[in-house]
Amino acid sequence: MDTVVLGISGSLRKDSVSTKLLRAFGERAPKNIDFRIADISRLPIYNQDLELPEPDYLLDWKRQIEPAKGILIVTPEYNRSIPPVLKNALDWASRPQMPPGRGLWANRPTAIAGCTPYTLGAFGAVHHLRQVLTFLNMPALQQPEFYLSQAAEKFDANGKLTDPTTIKFVDGLWSEFVKFMERF
Ligand SMILES: Cc1cc2nc3c(=O)[nH]c(=O)nc-3n(C[C@H](O)[C@H](O)[C@H](O)COP(=O)(O)O)c2cc1C
Repeated sequence: MDTVVLGISGSLRKDSVSTKLLRAFGERAPKNIDFRIADISRLPIYNQDLELPEPDYLLDWKRQIEPAKGILIVTPEYNRSIPPVLKNALDWASRPQMPPGRGLWANRPTAIAGCTPYTLGAFGAVHHLRQVLTFLNMPALQQPEFYLSQAAEKFDANGKLTDPTTIKFVDGLWSEFVKFMERF
């Protein structure tokens, strides 16, 4: 049976470079990977008053996560951290609270790619995200790291990844991530 990997983009923007990169990961996924792109757009801003009984949008979000062996997150950087929409999606599915390390996210190996139209590859966001994943008990692939700068130049007018160097990095990340997932 194929291994399900859930791809999450940290941007809801129609022309998001992060989502373009996430789609490129999907197009270049190895044959035995069932790559699915998460829809986090229906989640309102987290409010503990809304969490029980679990609303439909939360049940739907959890149903997207449940079959996933692994998670692949492409994140932009907002003010040197992760965008609220990504933190919101992680927070919602971490509730209702479980003992540390035993929630829905726990033990799902995760790969991270930072993406920015500017410089520094969303480095700050990637490392803030690693801190959050630690608490959620999500083993994060350490190497290769993945930081895409000047991202807008790497795609054609149809949003297809055309830059050969970035394509090589995408393939390299998949190859290590597949081996990493097998360890869990
Ligand atoms: C609130 C906000 C803060 C931002 N802060 C950063 C930043 O710290 N580093 C960076 O490289 N880009 C920053 N940017 C620019 C984003 O990289 C740019 O908007 C990018 O296109 C967002 O990703 P997306 O195309 O996937 O939506 C910021 C953008 C916004 C809206």
